[in-house]
Amino acid sequence: MSGFSADWLSLREPVDHRSRNLDLQAQVLNYLEKIKTLYPGSVHITDLGSGTGSNLRALAPHINSVQYWTLVDYDLTLLNVARSTLLAWADREINMPTDESSVNLLDTIKPISILKENKTIVVKFKYVDLFNDYQAILNEPADLITAAAFFDLVAQPWLTQFCAHLSKPLYTVLTYDGVEKWSPAQVIDAEILKAFHEHQRTDKGFGSALGPAATQCLENLLRAQQFTTVCAPSPWVLDHQDQALIEQLAIGSAKAVREIGSVSQTSVNQWEQSRIQADQCEIGHIDFFSYKA
Ligand SMILES: C[S@@+](CC[C@H](N)C(=O)[O-])C[C@H]1O[C@@H](n2cnc3c(N)ncnc32)[C@H](O)[C@@H]1O
Repeated sequence: MSGFSADWLSLREPVDHRSRNLDLQAQVLNYLEKIKTLYPGSVHITDLGSGTGSNLRALAPHINSVQYWTLVDYDLTLLNVARSTLLAWADREINMPTDESSVNLLDTIKPISILKENKTIVVKFKYVDLFNDYQAILNEPADLITAAAFFDLVAQPWLTQFCAHLSKPLYTVLTYDGVEKWSPAQVIDAEILKAFHEHQRTDKGFGSALGPAATQCLENLLRAQQFTTVCAPSPWVLDHQDQALIEQLAIGSAKAVREIGSVSQTSVNQWEQSRIQADQCEIGHIDFFSYKA
């Protein structure tokens, strides 16, 4: 279990989808149309920390070629939910050979082939801890590596090694950037945010996490390797229609701040109670694309 529940991922999915930076997404789609893919007429995409497959559901409807997706996660429950959610999301399941050679006995979840809005999508599921096994995943054939809401969890030494092994284009979306605006603003917000950032930097399975510094670090590392890089904002802009997400966000942030212990219990409780009822807030994220020209 990763600590990310399927319920939480499902709550954030519509907001994640509407927040993705569409200009950058268009650049990625344009890039995929223009490159010579591994297998003509099809595109192979690997999604790191896929959770229940939200990133696929956002991107796949915009890709015209036949698509082979590999969803990678170390949470078997989430991968199983990904499989059932994708089957429910699809217009229908189809009979199609799954990917060429690379489904093996370690892929504990059966691959699926689906049709969605006339797009053919073949999906396999890899139950892998990326802390240890990122090299094997990066070595597999792919036209694009992608990830959503994942890279803020990783640590600098791991990211350095990851980037040193990366030769493929990388598209990351919705990486937390540390900017939060709750409205109406309160004096305590800055203290709460400072403690929350401290929590962001605690170990999430890769060593001390980069949190809000992740995209900048990614950009520096990949530029040093002659990748072209592009960043674009993808903030969550939440209002009263997103009340359920705002509530869970306030509860989750307050819990993280309590774990750090630098803000008095009374102040955290008051902040939590008022923010649960907030009808506006903005949480900053960055989307990022890197490729070799
Ligand atoms: C914030 S969730 C995002 C999930 C999904 N990409 C989405 O946008 O809904 C982070 C995901 O990374 C996965 N994850 C975290 N650490 C991992 C690791 N060491 N190896 C593989 N997956 C990991 C979690 O299980 C979780 O599914």
